[in-house]
Amino acid sequence: MAAFLSSVIAGSALLSAVTAQNFDGGASSDEGFSWVQPKNTTILGEYGHSPAVYPSPNITGVGGWEAALEKAKAWVAQLTLEEKADMVTGQAGPCVGNIVAIPRLNFSGLCLHDGPLAIRVADYTSVFSAGVSAGATWDRAIMYERGVAMAEEFKAKGAHVILGPVAGPLGRSGYAGRNWEGFSSDPYLSGVAMEETINGHQDTGVQATAKHWIGNEQEVQRNPTYDRNITTVKTSNAISSNLDDRTMHELYMWPFANAARAKAASFMCSYQRINGSYGCQNSASQNGLLKTELGFQGYIMSDWGATHSGVASIEAGLDMNMPGGLGTYGMNFGIPSFFGGNITIGVNNGSITRLDDMVIRIMTPYFWLNQDKDYPSVDESSADLNTFSPRSSWTRNYTFTGTKSRDVRGNHAELIRRHGAAGSVLLKNEHKALPLKAPKNIAVFGNDAGDPVTGLLNQADYEFGTLAAGGGSGTGQFSYLFTPLRAIQDRAIQDKAVVQHWLNNTYITTVKDWNNVWLPTVPDVCIVLLKTWAAEGADRKHLSVDYDGDKVVKSVARDCNNTVVVTHSPGINTLDWADHPNVTAILAAHFPGQESGHSLVDVLYGEVNPSGHLPYTIAMNGSDYNAPPTTAINTTGFDDWQSYFDEKLEIDYRYFDAHNITVRYEFGFGLSYTTFNASEIEASPLESNISALPADLPIEQGGNPALWEALYNVTISVSNTGDVAGAAVPQLYVGLPSSAPKGTPIRQLRGFEKVHLEAGETKSVGFELMRRDLSYWDVVRQQWVIPEGEFTFWVGFSSRDLVAEKKVTVVS
Ligand code: BGC
Repeated sequence: MAAFLSSVIAGSALLSAVTAQNFDGGASSDEGFSWVQPKNTTILGEYGHSPAVYPSPNITGVGGWEAALEKAKAWVAQLTLEEKADMVTGQAGPCVGNIVAIPRLNFSGLCLHDGPLAIRVADYTSVFSAGVSAGATWDRAIMYERGVAMAEEFKAKGAHVILGPVAGPLGRSGYAGRNWEGFSSDPYLSGVAMEETINGHQDTGVQATAKHWIGNEQEVQRNPTYDRNITTVKTSNAISSNLDDRTMHELYMWPFANAARAKAASFMCSYQRINGSYGCQNSASQNGLLKTELGFQGYIMSDWGATHSGVASIEAGLDMNMPGGLGTYGMNFGIPSFFGGNITIGVNNGSITRLDDMVIRIMTPYFWLNQDKDYPSVDESSADLNTFSPRSSWTRNYTFTGTKSRDVRGNHAELIRRHGAAGSVLLKNEHKALPLKAPKNIAVFGNDAGDPVTGLLNQADYEFGTLAAGGGSGTGQFSYLFTPLRAIQDRAIQDKAVVQHWLNNTYITTVKDWNNVWLPTVPDVCIVLLKTWAAEGADRKHLSVDYDGDKVVKSVARDCNNTVVVTHSPGINTLDWADHPNVTAILAAHFPGQESGHSLVDVLYGEVNPSGHLPYTIAMNGSDYNAPPTTAINTTGFDDWQSYFDEKLEIDYRYFDAHNITVRYEFGFGLSYTTFNASEIEASPLESNISALPADLPIEQGGNPALWEALYNVTISVSNTGDVAGAAVPQLYVGLPSSAPKGTPIRQLRGFEKVHLEAGETKSVGFELMRRDLSYWDVVRQQWVIPEGEFTFWVGFSSRDLVAEKKVTVVS
């Protein structure tokens, strides 16, 4: 934790001193955004220029929140100005984010907790599989089930708000340090996962937070730099993610639109700047894209320390300031909040005009999810574990009721074990090396196999011990961690096998001849476990495995002709030994969570037939990837940290396909212990006349509802052609007609299903294509448009294993 905190503090906003008069002055301070290219204006560079978008839209409750809105309005009407200021300002307290109680109204406050794979600041809780593992399942049911189970734990601990799930970073670059917290670098897959996860969380009664809105694609310079001696003075602004309007809509906004459609209670605005303007005071992204175009009805909370102004942020759409300025940042530096007391000053002097809307937006999802009725109390154990705002930093009183240190894990270990296995991707399996057939002589290698020897906090990289989650705010506090070595030993004992192990990578790489080391002969199977660390606050330095893992593989495979390699990793590993003839199998096990060893053994021994598929592309070399993070600049200007998303729509497979680049394992790839085939495609329109433009319907949560209407039905039959049961993932890719604007990707994922099939079984699978799936974002018309001409639909088992193709004309 300490390392994480120091990185947050070092890289983060040390808030500027605030008085009422140095609020940023409202609308005019918005620095612009290339969201709309206004007519008849000079285009400023490639990224254009946009007008500020004001005023911030008021909540209307549209789309099912109407009754909750009325309750929220009536409730807010009873508040004093000071109480309203409290409702929008975080305070130091037991949770990662705290909105204090108003006892006279029976309101016990709001407890906000990280994060996307576990309730982190808590005890007796589970660590679930990471987002990247959930993405790799390509299984809607698992995404939802995981969302429900996580929320059960948050709720039982008294947390009202989950600070997850993550769709930003999306994964513009495989080097970005936080990609694993999210699901996939493909917006469609990420969007489905966002929707399922949010539904799971909120069906359980806990508010979800879609984060980080938007363009948060790297960690380096995500926050401004401050003068070391005068901590309130910035010496450099944070990096600016500069992207054009089409890229914004078709890639980065896409999964967040699903989140809005799923009625996520909250969105978290991001640290970095977007086309020059800080994420939490960018009126175009917050008032424009989110609250107007996507019809978002909930509240925007700041990332921790991402607020850089008062009035300007509020008028640009920010509703809640976190952690509020009185937590670590404020206490350590004696700085009050931009919100808090300054809210009352701003309302009294007329510079803040939308305070009621802010509080109503915060309370509407609360009433919608019935959090006013019998919600569990905050578990006091969080207060003891919260190093972010320790008790000594609290300026408000908290009372605790209910049992302390509640065990909220229930039967979740069972599903975590399943989810970990389902998120593992079998990349290579020569000579049917897997599943293992009760081998008698097993050797295990690598520093990722055994127990971590320096505790289970998971906040700093460690040499010895298995890795089952990344670090930073998105990690979990393990209550136990079932290691690969232990699970292999447990399983091998049943077969009366020998299990030898070597866990020191340095030692392994120095062995000249394993035949002098292992006993008595070459093992039946050599299982090599490799790991790769990633955490918030830093981007990855390379895409290979850590701790000389490549050399470890080569050392073992030199002498063992049945080497099975398993990686625990945040995503892309380049695997330069993949074609080594003695490497018979490769399993990308991602970050499976606390049941890691069990999940692995289930796949290795065939209890589970692997059905995970890559949610990203593995290229031949790290240097093959485009769009790397901006890790350094040569100049010292205040605004010089700029990241230009010049690759536009060409990220991951869209890039490799456009340039016909050979890759090692393509997006969507994954093997099974059985084989599958798919029939011809049948495609039929669901409407007789399909127009190019969507009907101009009133905006609902998720945007124009016409975009979500199913227009086309695509069906195929999928058969299990092997001799064991398994699950196929047929994937539907769509290529737009040549009339679509330049830069349109060759093909894009627009449907997938997980299909369980007995040996020899055939099932029909249907995909519904919605209007958005068939459209591009027209920057001039500011509209999703279905292009005229011939579409290509492909169905396959990866983005390059396309087994069926059909051409159709969609627009009548
Ligand atoms: C992260 C957020 C997280 C917050 C609270 C920030 O550093 O970016 O994702 O929810 O801290 O821990």
